Amino acid sequence: MMIEKEHYVVEVTGEGIIPVSEKETLLEAALLARIPIFHECGGNARCSTCRVLVLEEAHALSPPNEKEKMLSDQMRFPPNVRLACQTRVKGKDVKVSRIIRDKSDISLYVGSNAGESTQQIGEEKELALFFLDIRNFTAFVETRFPFDVIHIIRKLFTTFLEKVEQNHGKIIETSGDGLYAVFGFDQDPETAVDWAVKAGFSILSGLEDLNENYFKIYFNQIIEIGIGINAGIAVGGNIRLGKENRMVVMGHAVNIAARLQNATKELNNNFIISADAFKLLSTPPHHYQTTFISLKGVSSPLQVYLLGEHYL
Ligand code: FES
Repeated sequence: MMIEKEHYVVEVTGEGIIPVSEKETLLEAALLARIPIFHECGGNARCSTCRVLVLEEAHALSPPNEKEKMLSDQMRFPPNVRLACQTRVKGKDVKVSRIIRDKSDISLYVGSNAGESTQQIGEEKELALFFLDIRNFTAFVETRFPFDVIHIIRKLFTTFLEKVEQNHGKIIETSGDGLYAVFGFDQDPETAVDWAVKAGFSILSGLEDLNENYFKIYFNQIIEIGIGINAGIAVGGNIRLGKENRMVVMGHAVNIAARLQNATKELNNNFIISADAFKLLSTPPHHYQTTFISLKGVSSPLQVYLLGEHYL
């Protein structure tokens, strides 16, 4: 006697609800329903273009088979990313989203070498988010010879990067006059904030040393900076820009950290952290002040802690 296989439905966000039987893979069901999931290797777990993000009821999917496990490990996919060509549906209310939606998306996520370790995407984590900016940079550039500016910037950034890395942080972006770093990819949020704050103090004391023993003496210049730190959930992943893989870390908590850094001018204090970050500190600094500040994009005033010094 033939046993009838179960049928379920799966929601593919923004594209429809499709019937899926246990006999077929998610890819086969999607193609039958005219949802054009890419499948460059023909469904053999050799390309990853069919990957989907599982948004709900991941437990109602078949566990990854050996082929999928191998590819997922190689490309460091988080557990909520599955290959549609290897996945079967075993239960109700599954919701997925296609990741690769057109040909240009393929080049965003898939390198020529599928084994590159930088292909990890879309990981959400609670992190310490660190922004630093050099004060009065434009005026400084305008009044200096370009080679002097480059020399000073090099010296500054060597110190900044060294201190961030010594404290287990990762630089996400640098601009001419600032940087954005993240702490906590490999640590819990408490440790991440401890490291981020330690990096901030270490940078400030390194800068004091540079000002006293170098910039003042050789350039008659004092450099000041502002640092803002927030803690919160952010999404980190790699995107391909041309031939390069770039890490991005985004989210509302990141925007708040950037705005805190901006607020250092208004609050006349060179090191500001949010209350969310402060409460995670294992040993808060002895000297600090606290106040509330309104930030763009944040509905109510935010409590912040001023850990640094006034500007000169
Ligand atoms: S189609 Fe290539 S891995 Fe699924």
